[in-house]
Amino acid sequence: MRMRKALIAGNWKMYKTPEESVQFVREFLQQLTPRSEREVLICPPATSLGVLKPLLEKSPVHLGAQNVSPEDEGAFTGEISARMLKASGAEYVICGHSERRNIFGETDELVNRKVKQTLKYGLKPILCVGEKLEEREAGKTWTVIQKQLSAGLTGITREQAAEVVIAYEPVWAIGTGKNATPQVAEEVHQSIRNFLEERFGREIAETATILYGGSVKPENIDELMAEADIDGVLVGTASLTVPSFLRIVNYQSKSQAGR
Ligand code: 13P
Repeated sequence: MRMRKALIAGNWKMYKTPEESVQFVREFLQQLTPRSEREVLICPPATSLGVLKPLLEKSPVHLGAQNVSPEDEGAFTGEISARMLKASGAEYVICGHSERRNIFGETDELVNRKVKQTLKYGLKPILCVGEKLEEREAGKTWTVIQKQLSAGLTGITREQAAEVVIAYEPVWAIGTGKNATPQVAEEVHQSIRNFLEERFGREIAETATILYGGSVKPENIDELMAEADIDGVLVGTASLTVPSFLRIVNYQSKSQAGR
């Protein structure tokens, strides 16, 4: 199996003004020791992208957005286009986060349009999938995730699939302090990789980056990253303070993949 680079991503959600974002990044960069086998990504609110771009341009830290309009441009009050995000420094876009699906009513069809729009502008989508607690308890975890993957990746070519990151974020683990155990997460990650193999072939599946998200913290990062199919993490709360995000980025590797 090919070695996959780890991706450690912070999703700041609706936290931090531009000034607070700059302060975080300055402090973070001072303490960060770059490692070629680990990629670090920060997804701040859209209002902070522009001010962080010059700070991060020559740094090992990448920028991402949390959402995107499925349209190119036009009379869509409150929306932000992929072109705008790219011009503001974003390289990645989180698509279909469970908060967007469950609070703002985003459907699989809309998430798919966002994934395609992200790719159209040369950005990398992070397609989020994950089951709710009642779905897990009803034994429907894989049915739910398979549907989200299948719909989210509709019309995506093999070539485009190489640019897509998948994030498995069980809804019951987000912001609850209760993470999926590494074994539970690994099982779903393996199924996601099998799905990608069936849909796009072995090479895409083996090189695909599959992230875990949901109460990732300094206390559980080492064991999560030790799993063969967990290629990185999407971190909410614990990415908001420099010491905890740094500890996550500096996880202790026990992985066979050497990440
Ligand atoms: P928490 O790390 O706060 O559980 O949030 C996870 C998440 O939703 C990342 O996108």
